Amino acid sequence: MSSSVGWVIVNEHGKQMLALVTGGAGFIGSHIVERLLADGNRVRVLDDFSTGNRENLPELEGLEIITGDVGNFESVRKNMEDVDVVFHEAAVASVPRTISDPLGSQKTNYQGTLNALEAARQCGVRRVVFAASAAAYGDDPELPKREDMPPKPLSPYAVDKLASEYACQVYYCLHGLETVSLRYFNVFGPRQDPSSPYSGVISVFADKLINKEQPTIFGDGGQTRDFVYVADVVEANIKAATEKTAPGNTINIASGISVSLNDLLRTMCAICDSEFSPVYVEERQGDIRHSSANIDKAIDVLRWEPAVKLDVGLVSLLQRLGYEP
Ligand code: NAD
Ligand code: UD1
Repeated sequence: MSSSVGWVIVNEHGKQMLALVTGGAGFIGSHIVERLLADGNRVRVLDDFSTGNRENLPELEGLEIITGDVGNFESVRKNMEDVDVVFHEAAVASVPRTISDPLGSQKTNYQGTLNALEAARQCGVRRVVFAASAAAYGDDPELPKREDMPPKPLSPYAVDKLASEYACQVYYCLHGLETVSLRYFNVFGPRQDPSSPYSGVISVFADKLINKEQPTIFGDGGQTRDFVYVADVVEANIKAATEKTAPGNTINIASGISVSLNDLLRTMCAICDSEFSPVYVEERQGDIRHSSANIDKAIDVLRWEPAVKLDVGLVSLLQRLGYEP
């Protein structure tokens, strides 16, 4: 795209790169922002603060924060001016929330992506990296999931994410806009908000254990997930924005190792020296039973590999949240 040591910080006009991070005040987006700024880039955040938080973002020169809705094309178009690269993270990230509000969440989760792509095309943006999801795979029993397997979406969330991936492909093929879809599996780490029952499970379990409350498991706890640490996801985004081989691809971003919910909670209890005694309640509607990733494509195409093991990430997260070993 342009040249420098490590991550590109100068575009072809000899100016510092400007990255637009939609959803940049959220969990994953704010870590991407932090990394881009640390690498010397200029960053614009577009966020409606529905689940994101101003406190997730630093007070730094080079960072512009705009309150706006990605579902509103005019707002996206206006904030796309002069942008070199887009990291499109804005979404209703909770699967159950999209089941209870399919029309409202579609405006963000699909229309928002289309708005970002069309505005990027109109403004001559070089590359768009899209936060896709493992939810696209659904419940097919074949594991681990490879990108060439047929998708089987089970929720409005998965439908919107999959449609967004297709829109990325179409803009790449029709208009030459460089797009990359990263199918994140279950991301965890600092700043994942535990405040709702729909929040990411590790943040919810961590919050319960720190506050000496009983965690809830939906179903029998035998469902599995492939958890990937947020710093690894940030690195994958940087690779997706810079590697020449990335455009036009949909790529799994995961650890490549799955655990059951019961084993996850047992590990977290052991770290916190707490007893394993969850409450088991009815399985969640739209829940996927098993999720496990093949990450060969990320290794080949992005030259990316996860660096943080689950137990190491969990210890680091729990310590940051106040647990003293
Ligand atoms: P998050 O809720 O912390 O971040 C989403 C951000 O988007 C928030 O800051 C929110 O305020 C913002 N947002 C929501 N609707 C918006 C709108 N209409 N306009 C502008 N901003 C809006 O969630 P996250 O876990 O950081 O997820 C980031 C992205 O990664 C999402 O696209 C999500 O679907 C995707 N993803 C997350 C995971 C995961 O495990 N966390 C896994 C797969 C994919
Ligand atoms: C998560 C992401 C979604 C992403 C998908 C990709 C969030 C909120 N959701 O969905 O954006 O696209 O991964 O794989 O980040 N559970 C409990 N107890 C709890 C909370 C959850 O047992 O208190 C269970 C759930 O029923 C589910 C599992 O934990 O079986 C994971 O749930 P959750 O963290 O909400 O993630 P996903 O639904 O997998």
